Amino acid sequence: MSTTQHALQTVSRRFCNSFGGKPESRAYAPGRLEVIGNHTDYNGGIVVGAAIEQGTAVAMRQRDDGRIRLISDACLEDSVLETSMNTYTSDGLPSWSRYPLGVIDEARLRQWIPSGAGLELAIHSTLPMGAGLSSSAALELAVAGALVRLFFDPASAPGIETLIETAHRAENRFVGMPCGILDQTVAGLAKQDHLVVVDAASGRTDHAELPKDVGFAVFRSHISHALMDTPYEQRHRECRQALMGLERFIPGIRHLATVHEADLQAYAPVLDTRARLRATHVVHEQDRVHAFLHALRRLDLPAAGDAMTASHESSRSLFDNSIPELDVLTAAANQKEDVLGARLTGGGWGGAVIALVRNTFSVDQAEHICDAYEELFQVRPHWWRTTAAHGLVHERMRT
Ligand code: GLA
Repeated sequence: MSTTQHALQTVSRRFCNSFGGKPESRAYAPGRLEVIGNHTDYNGGIVVGAAIEQGTAVAMRQRDDGRIRLISDACLEDSVLETSMNTYTSDGLPSWSRYPLGVIDEARLRQWIPSGAGLELAIHSTLPMGAGLSSSAALELAVAGALVRLFFDPASAPGIETLIETAHRAENRFVGMPCGILDQTVAGLAKQDHLVVVDAASGRTDHAELPKDVGFAVFRSHISHALMDTPYEQRHRECRQALMGLERFIPGIRHLATVHEADLQAYAPVLDTRARLRATHVVHEQDRVHAFLHALRRLDLPAAGDAMTASHESSRSLFDNSIPELDVLTAAANQKEDVLGARLTGGGWGGAVIALVRNTFSVDQAEHICDAYEELFQVRPHWWRTTAAHGLVHERMRT
């Protein structure tokens, strides 16, 4: 049985144990790797991602009393959380509940949910939380997917782009994180054995085949990553300041990621130091994204790996979103012969490092990387291999 089917069956069982009877709709969405394009999405750049084989499954049923009842792996002693469709805020509820409640709120505003209706939801995840693999977007997208299968016929249901936008808006508005569109897009549109290429300025997406002789290894540091507790918002602000500073000299520029190298050279010196460093990272990261995609098309895998490693170095030295734990994992990975390149993935300040590896990459090589880490930090990192997996699946259950 596939890991997706297994997750869906597990969530159905959890639903049945908590609420009795069967769910009426189910959905599964994966976590993601940010392959390259660090902090370029909210700067109007291009970013490359891939879904992983772990994800989040949601099972749902309609109620007729306006109540929302929620159960998840994260609930202590199987206690059901309860709130009301019309009056809820996330105040007083555990922090993970903001993601499903945010999507339900967004769906209510879009009038997807009939008035007076309530919901029962069970959530089961195989994704590690705080690993920087976007468990939040997987949960948001799975909730959006289960909602449309519950309340719409397939012919009239909002399409995948609307689901992605709904999940993203829930994160920006209800959760309050000004994140870009990468995570929800990958969770929604990923294709088996393919990378997802997201042009954040136009919203266009494309798929690039992952060559057959490579895959990814994920090394999770022991520093948990929760975007809300990081300087993510501060970086967002610094990038805006850099754009506004450059706009005074380059009228009409709309996105930091598309500033021309010559303009950066000419005008970056007028920016304050931080804004200059952030702008330099973002502009050059765009070049690395193009170099990576170009190398992949030519099957020049060492060049693709080099672009990833250079991306890490720039995150570390210019964007200041790495930490020693991620630097050590990246450096140790890059010493292994079957590692083509390695970098931090996602927001930074914790979470995981990904390595682009040849299929000959062995357990021994991975364990050496873990040894190097353990020697310095006295904790053994968790690691696993993954191919590029598929995105959202959602279904209405037969009654
Ligand atoms: C987080 C955000 C993404 C993106 C990355 C950094 O994962 O959710 O939108 O900004 O950080 O590239």
